[in-house]
Amino acid sequence: MARSSTTYAPKWHCGKTCVLRVPEVLADEIMAYARDLDSTRANEIRENSANYTLETEPINKPLYTEKPVNVASVPQRSPFRYPGGKTWLVPILRAWLRALPRKPSLFLEPFAGGGIASLTVSFEKLAGHAIMAETDEGVASVWKTILTGQGHWLAQEILDFELTIGNVRKSLEEDANGSAVSLRRRAFLTLLRNRVQRGGIMAPGASLVKTGENNRGIGSRWYPETLARRIREIDMNLHRLSFYNGDGFALIDEYMVDPQAAFYIDPPYTKAAKRLYRNWQVDHRQLFEKMATVSGSFLMSYDNEKEIRDLSRVFGFECRPLRMKNSHHAEMTELLIGRDLNWLDH
Ligand SMILES: C[S@@+](CC[C@H](N)C(=O)[O-])C[C@H]1O[C@@H](n2cnc3c(N)ncnc32)[C@H](O)[C@@H]1O
Repeated sequence: MARSSTTYAPKWHCGKTCVLRVPEVLADEIMAYARDLDSTRANEIRENSANYTLETEPINKPLYTEKPVNVASVPQRSPFRYPGGKTWLVPILRAWLRALPRKPSLFLEPFAGGGIASLTVSFEKLAGHAIMAETDEGVASVWKTILTGQGHWLAQEILDFELTIGNVRKSLEEDANGSAVSLRRRAFLTLLRNRVQRGGIMAPGASLVKTGENNRGIGSRWYPETLARRIREIDMNLHRLSFYNGDGFALIDEYMVDPQAAFYIDPPYTKAAKRLYRNWQVDHRQLFEKMATVSGSFLMSYDNEKEIRDLSRVFGFECRPLRMKNSHHAEMTELLIGRDLNWLDH
């Protein structure tokens, strides 16, 4: 006797289903993401009735190597709008990690900034666990707060903040007094600063957004609901994500001999780094020396500068320029560096 469809176990765990139309090219990825959410998050969604949302953002740097790669949008998961942020690199990160002979047990991001790489890896289970390091104390306070389970507090603080120029100025003064505030208050103030200063720049000297997006002025990048949701979604992934409280170089040292570790290295390196980051000085030769001795796989991204191409040659690394267009259609190149980049051709 044929079984009625109701006797089959439901394919989805989170409840009723509905029909969505999505772009065909994104369908497999969205489906994989939905299955992942469904299997790992069913309980939380049921218990907290929290919505776990796939929020995609157009990436403003269409990228292509020899032939154009269609990466119209990638999930935006970081609460930061980070200068030099690598959202555009997400499709390449996925390709690299999936091309490894075995799924890495650890993904390490020693220069985390907005942490999009680690967030992607942990949300999409591209490695067993992701660990990020960052020496900027403000940025670190955000990661420490969220990753020690205080994300809900932070999300609520964001939702409760009344964004007026007076409140912003008062808060930024409080942030400047630094040591007197608690870690989680510092985290809130850092995200506020990141959202109200031009280009998300938090280094000294950056000015406030003036006209902003659509002339919305100082609030033009302050999206409280979106920020709160991203933070809560990270909170749902705490078991796959950690923050290393120290220098990125020390994080590399710690996992140097682990063949199952994969390192993504994105140090501050542009002529503009001094303007963009409080901590902008890195000994690049020392970094290359270290990467030459790690047992695991690694991928580095850099500006396409002669100094860096020379270092790659000295240490026997492969490097590939990626041509890309920015949002103003200006062409620029970035450099990807690794021991072997053949996977880029597939
Ligand atoms: C290019 S940004 C990283 C951007 C990041 N990949 C993203 O997508 O947001 C480099 C970061 O390294 C941090 N940094 C500088 N020196 C560091 C160090 N020794 N250890 C850890 N982080 C460091 C800077 O504060 C900055 O946030």
